Amino acid sequence: MIDFKVLAEKYDTPLYVYDFAHITRQYEELKKAFSGRKSLISYAVKANSNLSVISHLAELGSGADCVSIGEVRRALISGIPKYKIIFSGVGKRDDEIEEALREDILLLNLESEAEMERVEEIAEKIGRQARISIRVNPNIDPKTHPYISTGLHENKFGVDLETAKRMYIRANNSAHLDPVGVHFHIGSQLTELEPIKEAAAIVADLVRSLKAIKIDIRFFDVGGGIGIVYDDEKTIEPYDYAQAIFSVLHGLDVTVVCEPGRFMVGNSGFFLTRVLYEKVNEGKRFIIVDGGMNDLLRPSLYNAYHRVEVLGKSGACSEADLVGPVCESGDFFAKSRMLPATEPGDLVIVHSAGAYGFVMASNYNTRPRPAEVAIVDGKERCIRAKESFEDLIRLEKMCL
Ligand code: LLP
Repeated sequence: MIDFKVLAEKYDTPLYVYDFAHITRQYEELKKAFSGRKSLISYAVKANSNLSVISHLAELGSGADCVSIGEVRRALISGIPKYKIIFSGVGKRDDEIEEALREDILLLNLESEAEMERVEEIAEKIGRQARISIRVNPNIDPKTHPYISTGLHENKFGVDLETAKRMYIRANNSAHLDPVGVHFHIGSQLTELEPIKEAAAIVADLVRSLKAIKIDIRFFDVGGGIGIVYDDEKTIEPYDYAQAIFSVLHGLDVTVVCEPGRFMVGNSGFFLTRVLYEKVNEGKRFIIVDGGMNDLLRPSLYNAYHRVEVLGKSGACSEADLVGPVCESGDFFAKSRMLPATEPGDLVIVHSAGAYGFVMASNYNTRPRPAEVAIVDGKERCIRAKESFEDLIRLEKMCL
């Protein structure tokens, strides 16, 4: 049992708390599900990029899926072997490409013909051969929130099948490109298996047609996206997920790569915030807390549901909006939720905050980002201190 009260007193609120034992269980479960084939689980660092989180996963044997050179550096510092690091993203800068090539990571995942030309030029300039994969857009509706849906042609991600084929042939004829992988990712917080299976089948057919012309694809990257329970969703079982992918890979000798972010860390995390006061406006009840949308953006940005709990309070509930102090109407954690009567100082726990929580935090309203605490083997470890006012203004200069 995590003693949230003690942690909130010691580290102040708002605060992020992560249960590392949960991360271990998630990793082990997924790894086991994929054990029937050669596989690599590459944690999507974007979900929670704290160095301790990454190094915990590194110890378990995880790789890393990165979307900036900063994330690649975090992965390397945290002890992820370079041969397990993938660099994806729709817009990489030249300096990022060059550094990734010099680091000799497993793969650069490419998303356009123009990007491939840049990678080829840079690889030639520095005398390397770039191992690449191409992100294919299979035009499948993943049936998730439109902001986190990525596998339709109307989204900016990846290339269509015909373009991909052309790119593979070009890459195969280049002295500086080594096309070894294929990649797709149709969206995030997926709760239905069928779209993933359909996309995997389309991409597996592409791999077969490439093998037929002697382009040997060795890494079959199915992206991330496995959903988690925030409320009462019925989610995909890791075993079924792996089996669905295996079922379309007959005859292909490939390493299956998967890039889960949310699945790995989402339900390990808790966001703690304290009640400042309550008020009623024309019959509408508001609970105002000291955490804001700058600390945890998901409810404001996606209207995302997070379970909230007022610690130690039971008793009669009535509808309330749980809101923060930021001067935006969109600054809320829960709307029209049945919550007990609160008093100033009560601790509120926002659940499932381990993924896309701290990483999406900002300093809007000159608010320091919260501390992050990990529970490791039953002990607490502060893995990031709360920012100070001085941290926030450190890079600024007054010009007069
Ligand atoms: N691989 C690729 C290429 C991705 O674009 C993503 C997520 C992942 C893997 C990891 O997806 P996951 O397993 O975490 O679903 N901020 C949003 C989520 C954005 C996801 C972006 N891409 C949220 O808070 O829901």
